[in-house]
Amino acid sequence: MTSGPDRIAEAKAILRDNDRGGYCVPTAGLYPFQWNWDSLFAALGWVQFDTERAWTEIKTLFAAQWPSGMVPHIVFWEDAPSYFPGADVWRTDAESPATSGISQPPVAATIVRHLTEIDQLPPKSLYEAIERWHRWWHQARDPQGLGVIAVSHPWESGRDNLPDWDHPLSCVAPTLNGDYVRRDLDHVDAVMRPHKSDYDRYLALIDYGASTGWNDTEIAARSPFFVADPCVTAVLLRAERDLIWLGEALGADTSHTRQRLERLESGFEQFWNESAGTYCSLDLRTGRHAEAGTSASFLAPYAGIDQHTEQLLEQLQSWSQACRFLVPSFDPRHADFEPLRYWRGPVWCMVNYMIASGLADIGAHDWAERIQGDTAKLITSVGMPESFDPIAGTPVGGLRFTWTAALWLAWAGK
Ligand code: GLC
Repeated sequence: MTSGPDRIAEAKAILRDNDRGGYCVPTAGLYPFQWNWDSLFAALGWVQFDTERAWTEIKTLFAAQWPSGMVPHIVFWEDAPSYFPGADVWRTDAESPATSGISQPPVAATIVRHLTEIDQLPPKSLYEAIERWHRWWHQARDPQGLGVIAVSHPWESGRDNLPDWDHPLSCVAPTLNGDYVRRDLDHVDAVMRPHKSDYDRYLALIDYGASTGWNDTEIAARSPFFVADPCVTAVLLRAERDLIWLGEALGADTSHTRQRLERLESGFEQFWNESAGTYCSLDLRTGRHAEAGTSASFLAPYAGIDQHTEQLLEQLQSWSQACRFLVPSFDPRHADFEPLRYWRGPVWCMVNYMIASGLADIGAHDWAERIQGDTAKLITSVGMPESFDPIAGTPVGGLRFTWTAALWLAWAGK
């Protein structure tokens, strides 16, 4: 076992090695571009030892914001043959830089607030850019004003291969161009990655989005995949609160943000699935809930939602008896749980960080400490991979991972 101080040096070295000049790749090889929420979590790590570099990470991401307000999930700052599907498959009109056509959970306002508390207020232009991004989520992914935010592709949720998407994806016709070459399997064992049948549908959804010219109205009305996601919604709920805090500090008018916040606060209950006893994603095409909880179910306290706190803590207790390390990405008691496969079991430390922050906010300190302690044990014993097996405690996915290193510096190693 390596001691704490060595892990600090290792974490800083990972951030520096993954730095491509103004942004970090999540890990070399597997993910060779800038990813949206990865960069924002990276900023939490940078701010521990290089404040200016932390702000740069965020500014670089927002330099790729679309005129609609959307902040893309991948920014292709450079060519990289080690990744598929690249810019030529996304066919967005974003020219400089090329980007993907979907977004990722909007953690920016919350992280900018954190940086502000350590350093100083952001420029008003960054605050306004985040405000436009939030507005985009509501207009593009909740045009009916239901108060729950949908994702138009599993990758938009940031939780790519969750069992929640299996049924909605089964209604998507696979791509007709099935002889593509996946590059993820050059880097990571196939047992940890999605199946080809999933990939065929991921690509079909990219083809669909591209065929509309990435038209938000069209996508919301007709995309074969449109699923309200408790992770994106909880992250946005929290982010709207933090945006109000920032707006007040900057002397901005926050009335629109407050209206959006109220809509989400009353909408969140639609995720509650009484038979699962927890918050589940909701397929807006069929009106059907996913049948089991995920780590995002425990983000309700982080979002400031307290209707079902007792039931959530009971669930957490039950999950803790079914695995060694909290919090698995999917219900470890369910038949679809797979401890090694992408988002169907492994523990992601940035999700742990958000869950634990929310639990601390509501005074559930024992659980917050348990989750922080589990994260610290995992990193201390095996290093800083993409994610971890919640039973064996072994590394899963890519190694020397940016957000794991950042979260060690900002939280787990403290
Ligand atoms: C995977 C994850 C996603 C992450 C990306 C880069 O696609 O599911 O959340 O942003 O890898 O780390």
